[in-house]
Amino acid sequence: MVKLKIDDQEIEVPEGTTVLESAKKLNIKIPTLCYNQHLKPYGGCRICLVEKTQENSSRPPELIVSCSYPAENGAIIRTNTERVIKGRKFIIQLLLARCPNSDVIQNLAKEYGVSKDDRSDIVGYYLLNKADRLDQTKCILCGLCVRVCEEIVGMSAISFSGRGIKRKIKTPFDRISETCIGCSACAYVCPTKAIRIEPAD
Ligand code: FES
Repeated sequence: MVKLKIDDQEIEVPEGTTVLESAKKLNIKIPTLCYNQHLKPYGGCRICLVEKTQENSSRPPELIVSCSYPAENGAIIRTNTERVIKGRKFIIQLLLARCPNSDVIQNLAKEYGVSKDDRSDIVGYYLLNKADRLDQTKCILCGLCVRVCEEIVGMSAISFSGRGIKRKIKTPFDRISETCIGCSACAYVCPTKAIRIEPAD
C-alpha cells in the first residue's frame, strides 16, 4: 500500500493505483476526456493534470497527468492550484480551437471561463475535415476509439493517420473498414460524440 495526500486529505491505496483513481476514492473531481477505467492509461488529452510535490522535498511542484501517474508514498497532490487551472485553460483553448462544435468542450470552456476569443493565437491548430462518419471538428484526438477497438474489441478497425495538424482518426484507406464489426464501442467511448454509426451501404 502507498500513502499520499490529495488536497490535504490523506489516503492509502494499493500500489499501482493512479493519482486519478486515488482522487476518485476521496470524491475529488478531476476533469478527464481520454480516460476510461477499462482501458490502459494513454495520457492523450492532458486535461487531468495536477500538481505534485514530495513530502520533505525542496523541489518545486511538477505538473503530472493524473490518469497515468501512479500514486507514490509521501506524494502531495494539489488538484486546484492557480498553475493547474492555467494549464487546463490552455488545453481547453487548444481543444476549443480544434473542436468548436463540441458540446463537451464548450461546457468545459464555460466551466473554466475560457472564451472563443482566447484562442486567437492558436488558430493554426484548427483542422476541418469532411470525413463522413467522424466529425473531425468534434474529434479531440484522444485515441479512446482506437484503443477500445484494439484492446477490448480486438479488431483495430480504425487508427491514427498523419502528423501535426493533419493528424486524424480514420479507417484504412478512408474506406469502410473490412474488420469493423459494427459494435459501436468507438462511438460509445468517444467523449465528444464525434463518431456516428451508420449501416454500411
Ligand atoms: S484524461 Fe488524463 S490525459 Fe486525458
